[in-house]
Amino acid sequence: MRIGVDYYPEHWEKERWKIDAEMMAKANIKVVRIGEFAWSLYKPEENRLQFQWMDEILDFFREHNISVVLCTPSATPPKWMTDKYPDIYQDDIHGNPKIFGTRKHYCFNSETYRNFTSSLVEKIAKRYGQHPAVEAWQIDNELGWANTTRCYCEKCRKEFQHWLKTKYGTIEKLNKAYGTVFWSQIYNSFEQVIIPKAGACYDTCHDTQGQNPALLLDYYRFSSDSVIRFAKESIDVIKKFSDKPVTSNFLDAAVNSGTGIDYFKLSENLDFVSWDNYIEFQWGIAEAATVSRDHALLRSYKKQPFWVMEQQSGPCGWSKMGPAPTPGKLRLWTYQAVANGADTVVYFRWRACPFGTEQYWHGILNHDGKPNRRYDEIVQTGAEMEQLSKSLGALKPTAKIAIVKSFDSEWSHSIHKHVENFQYDQFLLSFYKPFYNMGMPVDFVTPYDDLSEYSLVIAPALLMVNEQEKNDLESYANQGGTLLLTFRSGVKDKNNNMLKETVPGVFSELAGVQVEEYDPQFQKVTSSSGVYGKGLSNLWCDIIEPVTAKTLGVYTQDYYAGKSSLTVNHFGKGDVYYLGCDLDDSALQQFMKYLCSQLKLTVPLYSIDGVEKVETTDGKHRVLFVMNHNPYPVIVPLNYIYQNMLTHNQEQGTVSIAANDVALLNLD
Ligand code: GLA
Ligand code: ZN
Repeated sequence: MRIGVDYYPEHWEKERWKIDAEMMAKANIKVVRIGEFAWSLYKPEENRLQFQWMDEILDFFREHNISVVLCTPSATPPKWMTDKYPDIYQDDIHGNPKIFGTRKHYCFNSETYRNFTSSLVEKIAKRYGQHPAVEAWQIDNELGWANTTRCYCEKCRKEFQHWLKTKYGTIEKLNKAYGTVFWSQIYNSFEQVIIPKAGACYDTCHDTQGQNPALLLDYYRFSSDSVIRFAKESIDVIKKFSDKPVTSNFLDAAVNSGTGIDYFKLSENLDFVSWDNYIEFQWGIAEAATVSRDHALLRSYKKQPFWVMEQQSGPCGWSKMGPAPTPGKLRLWTYQAVANGADTVVYFRWRACPFGTEQYWHGILNHDGKPNRRYDEIVQTGAEMEQLSKSLGALKPTAKIAIVKSFDSEWSHSIHKHVENFQYDQFLLSFYKPFYNMGMPVDFVTPYDDLSEYSLVIAPALLMVNEQEKNDLESYANQGGTLLLTFRSGVKDKNNNMLKETVPGVFSELAGVQVEEYDPQFQKVTSSSGVYGKGLSNLWCDIIEPVTAKTLGVYTQDYYAGKSSLTVNHFGKGDVYYLGCDLDDSALQQFMKYLCSQLKLTVPLYSIDGVEKVETTDGKHRVLFVMNHNPYPVIVPLNYIYQNMLTHNQEQGTVSIAANDVALLNLD
């Protein structure tokens, strides 16, 4: 475990670099990430290349023993390029071209842009591929940031048609898959297929709601593939000249919404994954549980340690700022990352920049560059990491519970959400939280992953699976796994069309139920009662008819009072639960506790609100992180006597933890 910073040497006078490097060394900062927006420095004009500035920077860090993550600068095409080659611009969802002025205004399918990118990446990789300062590479910056994954230009339309031809072969097959007989949409050739833009439905919606849902889902898949192909082109070029690992920084789901990129797929091409963690800023304040969930996603994409490539380190925003991180938070956020599987945490940014869009985006240092309270906290954190890493390798929680995350389902739910207020991402989070509260780690998996290491697999609102995925889930249960399915599972095919089988469609046999009818909870709330105690549903109620399953909960209201809300079905050696409704937080917490007790999963310590507990291992040692996200001190009960690895105190019976503080208990 170690720390680093995002640094922009080109923003500062050279004389200052030395002071910065000394201050970094004092804070045990081991790595800097540089160069992700520097296109116009490398190439100020179409036929002029300059590298001397970067030569100097890399040599400087080499001399100062700080290693570098070198980025490819494709997030910011320069002005000469957009002026001369306007076809590199993206079109927005209404078909209007983007403009110069911020960043990420390029189309992933523009051949011009792909060529410009590959050619510059090649020159950079050739020149620095063997530079001793470079320890890793970052492709682009936040692929898909600010809704840029989906472009609606003519270039994309052509590429999409090509993608469809490869997928379907004949237009008849596409027509069948899309059900184009509905509303006279039958296509005669792939060249006729449209890009589903907004505004097709004039009065009732100004978004894409009225478009064909099968077409939309394919367009989302195609867009994700386009970004992944773009990234892959840069990766392949780098690999020709360097054997250093390649990453790209992902966006969080805690405050920003999903990017529309299948991160599982993108991760396959990366050597390690990383993400940008902003917790309290202009655009929102994330709960500790959702940040924990984001870390869990990141450790799941590749099933290996990850980095935080940008970790908030000061008050930040563009036009206005979020709060200053209160004392202890920078250190606590760092430990939260490490506990959940990060091995490097890089702070954004070293020092606040006096100019440009992000002049309010504070780093560790303010604009004045002087050591301050936040710097002192980073110095402390860096010293602790240095000390801990002498005896500990990369730590990782060992999860016995997994939640299925399917990008197909996520996108389908975002196309048509079935009922007001349903959000796939939030629904997944609602299952993560009870375990977070109990201190039990949860991984995220795809339906096609090997699930055998998990005691419990939860597949919330898993709308669609293919034959293979269905078989995999069945054999997981068959061999003794416990599976929890919910309403809106197995009801669609992979074309985003409803199945003709009775709900829950392909999962009927597995769950041992039939759903006679369902009641979307629009402006109503329905109560039920079961092993979860009293429950309230705000989103959805499946009226379940058990076939081979046994009832564990019943509705207590409305015309379906007495009908099943929750069931369990023995399937092979395993159990399959079917939850027909959403539940309020406390009922869901109770239900997850019930499942843990059924599975004899022991819950670590007592639960205290706002206290995150994560048990981790590096393969040799076991460490329990107890993190107090509350603005007040807590006293946490302990079962045994432990050594606190930070204070070196023996903790017996209880451990007291100050506001925003952490205890690292050695479990060996
Ligand atoms: C993002 C980007 C950075 C910077 C910060 C602050 O996450 O990756 O370049 O813009 O946010 O806005
Ligand atoms: Zn495009």
